[in-house]
Order: sequence, then structure tokens, then C-alpha cells
Amino acid sequence: MSETLFVYFFYAFFYGQGQARKTEGKKMKTLGYYNGRFGELDEMTVPMNDRVSWFGDGVYDAGPSRNYKIFALDEHIDRFFNSAGLLKIQMPVTKKELKELLQEMVDKMDTGDLFVYYQVTRGTGIRDHVFTEGPGNLWIMLKPAEISDGKEPIRLVTMEDTRYLHCNIKTLNLIPSVMAAQKAKEAGCQETVFYRPGGRVTECAHSNVHIIRDGILVTAPTDNLILPGIARAHLIKICRQLGIPVNEAPYSLDDLYNAEEIIVTSSSNLCLHADEIDGKAAGGRNPELLEKIRAALLQEFYDATPAEQREK
Ligand SMILES: Cc1ncc(COP(=O)(O)O)c(C=O)c1O
Repeated sequence: MSETLFVYFFYAFFYGQGQARKTEGKKMKTLGYYNGRFGELDEMTVPMNDRVSWFGDGVYDAGPSRNYKIFALDEHIDRFFNSAGLLKIQMPVTKKELKELLQEMVDKMDTGDLFVYYQVTRGTGIRDHVFTEGPGNLWIMLKPAEISDGKEPIRLVTMEDTRYLHCNIKTLNLIPSVMAAQKAKEAGCQETVFYRPGGRVTECAHSNVHIIRDGILVTAPTDNLILPGIARAHLIKICRQLGIPVNEAPYSLDDLYNAEEIIVTSSSNLCLHADEIDGKAAGGRNPELLEKIRAALLQEFYDATPAEQREK
């Protein structure tokens, strides 16, 4: 497509409309949105005075889409609005408007298997710690992504949790998680498990972590030290359906090292399990139970995102 036509496309169909519109034929590889403007991610620009630049002042949420269907959307949107409310950020859209906008954007993509990410930042203004007035800025980002079937084990490293005490709010301040994710990568691992002084396991850089101990799912309680993961909630629900007891209670690094199985959940990869922590073999002692859980979680996802019902 020529540059002129490309520019025309965005003005005709997207720019300044406030809402995405159905387009015929045109499909996007990535798609960004900022306060009513749309475009491929690497072409989007945002104002330097968006408070995200100065303070990381915002919250986000994200989840998968498969076959153009966004999974567990209501749960993610509820948590998104809750995070914003806890930080007194005014949402610029209603839940219904956001859901419709996300689905319209998903429909424009050239694959329906996506990472669907959205954030709200506390408006725009010259750098000043005190709140700006008015509603926040809405950002949306879509990129291709597929959920792992979780059959391959992953490797974990551990690291002291030096984050602050509002981990239940999904804020944009992710430096400890960024450092932890890099530590995992450099160690040839896929995730980093955080523990607080004294050894209490909290969660991972970008996932929740759970253990099977004596046939029971043990998972950290949803206090201010962890994010209440949507995949975690689905794991608990599936375990209860399967008759597996669930104990939402703190557990330690020793419990993790000695667990029958170690399960890592997130919306990006619903149910992973680990076979190594800090270079030592771990888990792998209750594979039948693990497989029941993995298969049921994946099946729930596949059932909720079938191919055949796609609206053209
Ligand atoms: C710190 C942290 N914990 C847990 C999770 C998992 O949450 P969810 O299952 O809602 O994706 C995430 C996901 O982004 C995360 O960043």
C-alpha cells in the first residue's frame, strides 16, 4: 500500500473517531490505541507530558484472545477498574465501552490469537506530583501471542521480593519485575519466584506460583503482597471442580523446594509447571494430578474460545 493510501486509511477509518469502526479487508499485525487514535504500534506517538512518563502513574490489565474471542474479559475489566479506583484514577470509558472497543480492535487483526493489553494513566500535565484534573488517558495494545499448552516444564530462579506493599494493584511501576525477569533469562530460566525476608513465597515476576503438597493445592492468599491473578482464580475453581482441596495460605521457599508439583499461572500462559528451581530438580512427584489440572484449565480456555463461532 502506498504511503498516501496508508495515511488515508487511518484518517478514513480510525483517526479521531473515538471508537474503532468495522473495516473491510484491512487486517493489522499489531494495533495501538491512545485516546481515540489508532495505528500500528511502532507508528503510535504519545504526549511526553502523559503522567506515565514522569511517574509511571497508571494501571493496566491484559489477557489472551484466541479465535478473536477475548478470554475472561469481564474478570480482567473488573480488576482493571478496581486498580484504577484504588489509585483514584478516573476512567475515561465505561466497562461496556471498553469491552466493545477491545472487541472491535481484535476484529481488525490478521490473527485472532493475541495478547490484549490496556492501561489507563492519570492524564496529561507538566510534571507535578499532585494529581492532574479530569479523566485518565486510555492506551490499548494488541500483538500476536499464543497460549502454551503447558506440557513442557519450565525452570525457575528465586529472588528476594523488594517490591512495595501494594502488589494487589496492577500498576505500571514494574522495575523489580523487570529486573527479576532479566535474572531468569540470564540464568536460562523462564520465571523468577519472589520471596519476602523470612522466606515467604509471594508470586513471580509476571505470574502467580502455587504448589501441590500432600495432594492439596497451596497458594498464597490474595493480600497486598500478590496480584489476585485471573488465571489463579481459574486454577482454584478448576481444582475445586476436580475435588482437589485448596488451601489459600502463605508457604515458604522450603515448601516450594519440596513441593510435589509447582504450578505457575498467568493469563499469558495459563498453566505451566516447573521441574527446576535455582539449578536443582524440583516438583515432578504428582504428575497425574498435575496433568488433570493442566488439561482441565486448557480445556476451559479452548471451550470459551472456539473457532467456529467467529463473526465475520
Ligand atoms: C506480578 C504478577 N502476578 C501475577 C500475574 C498473573 O495474573 P493473571 O493471571 O491475571 O494474568 C501477573 C500477570 O501479569 C503479574 O504481573
